[in-house]
Amino acid sequence: MPPIDDNGRRTGIRINPSILAADFVNMQSELARIATADFVHVDVMDNHFVPNLTFGPQMVERIQSTSPVPLDVHLMITNPDRWAPGYAELGAASVTFHLEAAKEPVALARRLRDIGARAGVAVKPATPVEGLFDLLDDFDQILVMTVEPGFGGQSFMPETMPKLRRLADEARRRGSSVWLQVDGGIGESTIVQAAEAGADTFVAGSAVFGAADCANAIADLRAAAAQHHAH
Ligand code: DX5
Ligand code: ZN
Repeated sequence: MPPIDDNGRRTGIRINPSILAADFVNMQSELARIATADFVHVDVMDNHFVPNLTFGPQMVERIQSTSPVPLDVHLMITNPDRWAPGYAELGAASVTFHLEAAKEPVALARRLRDIGARAGVAVKPATPVEGLFDLLDDFDQILVMTVEPGFGGQSFMPETMPKLRRLADEARRRGSSVWLQVDGGIGESTIVQAAEAGADTFVAGSAVFGAADCANAIADLRAAAAQHHAH
């Protein structure tokens, strides 16, 4: 097993705090609170694909230039084929778009990779994952939403776990190195369920930014996930 650095980053588990739960007016100091995270999860919402609105490329560019950790951009927007590459161009390490919104997901993933980003695809709770089985090599990350996208602070949906388990089994069977991400309602107890089902990359908004000490919250989540991850 590789040595674990001060922040525990080399566990094969990633903890990505969602800035949706941060104070938008004090973004610089909020970003400084999560310097021990693996990525900062950046939720872009267009009030069309989801019934909520956050921000677009101008804000994400400022986050990119300020953040102590790389960006994990989650695009909850229609027509990602048109807009997603711009987020890779501004330097986001990872760009995830929704399968339900993309016209040509594989071509779009290829463009994101060509620009130098990791390519991610997300599925809402009701969207099956079987359609992704033949596309595992085309993506670096698959995001299984554990709430309906649109808002922070919702309850984790355990009924999404069988789907995650099927995806993890298939990825293992094919020897895929794709990262399996969960997002929505992740906290100290739900992270255990998701890790057992095969997730290795965890988004947490309220559980991290709602804590008095973000570094402690990140370390606790990382330890719980590492202990229960299905290897
Ligand atoms: C929801 C967003 C999530 C959200 C998670 O649509 O995609 O990233 O911020 O927030 P919590 O962890 O509070 O459920
Ligand atoms: Zn998200």
